Amino acid sequence: AKVRHYKWEVKYQFQSPDCFRKLVIGINGKTPGPTIIAQQGDTIIVELKNSLLTENVAIHWHGIRQIGTPWSDGTEGVTQCPILPGDTFFYKFVVDRPGSYLYHAHYGMQREAGLYGSIRVAVPDGVVEPFTYDYDRTIILNDWYHKSTYEQATGLSSKPFVWVGEPQSLLIHGRGKFNCSSPTIGSSDTCNTTNPQCAPYTLTVVPGKTIRIRLSSLTALSALNFEIEGHNLTVVEADGHFVEPFVVKNINVYSGETYSVLVKADQDPSRNYWLASNVISRKPATPTGLGILNYYPNHPSNYPPSTPPTGPLWNDSDYRLAQSLKIKAHPSHIIAPPVETDRVIILLNTQNEIDGFRRWSVNNVSFNLPHTPYLIALKEKLRHKIVQPNPNATASNAIYRLKFNSTVDIVLQNGNSMVPNTSETHPWHLHGHDFWVLGHGKGKFDPMEDPKKYNLVNPIMKNTVPVHSYGWTALRYIADNPGVWAFHCHIEAHFYMGMGVVIEEGVEKVGKLPTSIMGCGETKSLIRP
Ligand code: C2O
Ligand code: CU
Repeated sequence: AKVRHYKWEVKYQFQSPDCFRKLVIGINGKTPGPTIIAQQGDTIIVELKNSLLTENVAIHWHGIRQIGTPWSDGTEGVTQCPILPGDTFFYKFVVDRPGSYLYHAHYGMQREAGLYGSIRVAVPDGVVEPFTYDYDRTIILNDWYHKSTYEQATGLSSKPFVWVGEPQSLLIHGRGKFNCSSPTIGSSDTCNTTNPQCAPYTLTVVPGKTIRIRLSSLTALSALNFEIEGHNLTVVEADGHFVEPFVVKNINVYSGETYSVLVKADQDPSRNYWLASNVISRKPATPTGLGILNYYPNHPSNYPPSTPPTGPLWNDSDYRLAQSLKIKAHPSHIIAPPVETDRVIILLNTQNEIDGFRRWSVNNVSFNLPHTPYLIALKEKLRHKIVQPNPNATASNAIYRLKFNSTVDIVLQNGNSMVPNTSETHPWHLHGHDFWVLGHGKGKFDPMEDPKKYNLVNPIMKNTVPVHSYGWTALRYIADNPGVWAFHCHIEAHFYMGMGVVIEEGVEKVGKLPTSIMGCGETKSLIRP
């Protein structure tokens, strides 16, 4: 195994990902940032310099379990103090499983400013994957807002509440196209459709070859559907686990999910085809995100002669549920879940009004990140400093404590939002673990009947899973990774407004915490006695 050392500088810069110029956060000048390319068992060291001048930062390695290094999870308020402007922080962790993963900012709503990228971990030498392809490419889907994250965050926490609204554009690997002649946009120096930064993302294929697309989403809000005009997609990987292959015309991807799909370049090679990303599950108010599948040797910038795919009906929740149910473990890569569970936690997802502020909640508790990170507070026995019992509180920073090595089921139940007759889709992401997806269902979860229908035979393991509108999703996992882990909705505004919990297990087994994660809140006393 190798040690791979990356040196990153995080900085604001002007960029026009969708032709509209705004401040974005880049890594070494780029958004999406550099791809981490490694092999199973390698150690990754990211030497991160925060050059944001007036803003803290933290980066989370999404899908990496951080076994033995819970302090490198990069979750501000949970596993570390934020990295101050001007400071350099070292993230060091082992990529212990092959697959496709992500990284992104985990401080405030900073991810939306463009601070994200991908991690690709190859299988060890001599190990073969249960499918073949000629070459692979990474595509991160995203949605894009023109307002700054500060304006959005301030609106969300104001009275009256100001919702972020629908995104202006959908990006395919960092590129989209905003209509600069729309009346809301002023001059050509802030929006310019001929700016090369917003030239469409192009994926070149050689006729007859099969490519593997490592497809993921890091949207702030939108659930997306991805389609390649005229081409089937064979789904083979989900969140680092091999899938029993299935073929779809288009694939639904929720924020925080990663898939690998195989695409064979088997269509008329004399032209190019559209890559299309469409909003689903919310009434779309954002145009289709477009890219180009370029058949070599056609010119990559030749627009396809056809109308781009518009995706499935945005409100067809049965279609989305059916696709979720198709995702099962590959027959030769099944990891069987324990047949019994030690504990069942039911989490109801709702919206609440708390003292006139609009919040998102779990079991009517809206989560606040503490100023003293949980991992440090719990490990260093500052517990009394973070848990202030207040029986009447509806906003809190309470945590779930799991017995080490126990098996836990979590049932995520969707309720209504504050808008009458609507139920949102929430993609939930667990740090530090993969879980088995035991089932998805419609309506209210029945604790007597529904568990009888759980898939205990070949459930897929994932780290992010959607909870569909008016439905429920059941997960099982083993609390075997000492540390403190966030579990939250991956929609940026939802987590920011309280849709998350923190889970603690085996904290006493965590090794000595590096002082580099300390320095904020009550942890000051630990480094300056
Ligand atoms: Cu990808 Cu806690 O997030
Ligand atoms: Cu949500």
